[in-house]
Amino acid sequence: MNKRDFIKNLSLVALGSPLYLSSISSWASEIKDVPMTILAKNEEFWLKVRQDYKLKPDYINLESGYYNIIPTPTLNNMIEHAKMVNYEGSYYMRTVQWENKTRMAQKLAEVVGCTSKNVIITRNSTESLNMVIMGFPWKKGDEAVFADQDYGAMKIMFDQVSERYGVVNKVISVPNHPKSDEEIVEIYAKAITPKTKLLMVCHMVNITGHILPIKKICQMAHKRGVQVMVDGAHCVGHFEFNIEDLECDYYGSSLHKWLAVPLGTGLLYVNEKHIKTLWPIFAEYNRKPDDITRLNHTGTHPVHHDLSIESAIDYYNMLGGARKEARLRYLQEYWSSQVRNHPNIIVNTPIESHRACGIANVGIKSMKPAELAKRLMDEYQIFTVAIDYANVQGCRISPNVFTLTEELDVFVDALKEMANA
Ligand SMILES: Cc1ncc(COP(=O)(O)O)c(C=O)c1O
Repeated sequence: MNKRDFIKNLSLVALGSPLYLSSISSWASEIKDVPMTILAKNEEFWLKVRQDYKLKPDYINLESGYYNIIPTPTLNNMIEHAKMVNYEGSYYMRTVQWENKTRMAQKLAEVVGCTSKNVIITRNSTESLNMVIMGFPWKKGDEAVFADQDYGAMKIMFDQVSERYGVVNKVISVPNHPKSDEEIVEIYAKAITPKTKLLMVCHMVNITGHILPIKKICQMAHKRGVQVMVDGAHCVGHFEFNIEDLECDYYGSSLHKWLAVPLGTGLLYVNEKHIKTLWPIFAEYNRKPDDITRLNHTGTHPVHHDLSIESAIDYYNMLGGARKEARLRYLQEYWSSQVRNHPNIIVNTPIESHRACGIANVGIKSMKPAELAKRLMDEYQIFTVAIDYANVQGCRISPNVFTLTEELDVFVDALKEMANA
């Protein structure tokens, strides 16, 4: 059997996965004492994890950054919730809908390390972060700072706020290979003036996977009286951290990314100092000024997806956040270390382990990212996404817990073959 057939067969294994039980639940005691760095390299274990997924065998999926396919136990749980909500109909919506949502927020707060009084469930990072950008009490002439590498939807919202309220936007550029945390902090610090009110920064830059020194940026900004909003779209469920340790003012994330919650689920953290000053997207009925639920009027939406947050967290906890982080970082370093020194290949992600985790970006000199992505798919059946803006020209590579090193070998061979041609 050649490598490609082997991988196709691996995908099909997942079709036979059990309905609700995870393939790894029976492994809990066996892996309990195995050091994370050892388990991260244990392909036999990660093959078991893969059996919890139903994967399309037509291509190798190295684009988990947009949406994480959810494991079968979470998917089945969501389907059961959809059936239950449909069975109870308006009765469900008028009785326990809100207390269930509060319970989900409490469970989520434990994962991200903060009190549930500061967390609401939103539909995605776009909603969370745009609520802050749009709801900030701007005055004409106020300034905002963010980066060229930030996500488009947020940059566009800052443009709209500029048009609407006369806010001045200062755009900096994050280097792909900083020499130190201080270099990054200094770049943001230089853009701050006495008029700056809000700074937006990515916890992980989505196009490169670069993890930024958030706490140091927050401390620097606070000394200058500037609030910090963190775009953590790619961080919850990807690597471990506590929001409270970051000392930020606002934090937004998408749960349908690395926490593998069904589509349309997000998180917004607001430091208690700011709950009363933010304007909600949709106004809420009688709430106290410091009650975060005043920011959480969404209208009717797929509540069964919210209910699956609990199941996704149970799955995440069973796998273990630290184990998942170690595996994702191992996978990234497994492939990127094999191409970093190639004269025709450029890795746009820092080499230091603490500055990246599962995501990295790679380009081939003299080949447009769009062509690289197309050739990877057409000639090697590897699905990625092309990035071609700011200082990043390459494909974003985002493997997942179901990715095997066998697949990354196919990817590395493909890159080298194209770069050597
Ligand atoms: C850095 C970053 N911020 C925000 C978002 C928006 O996430 P969503 O579409 O889930 O709102 C993304 C999406 O990929 C992202 O990468």
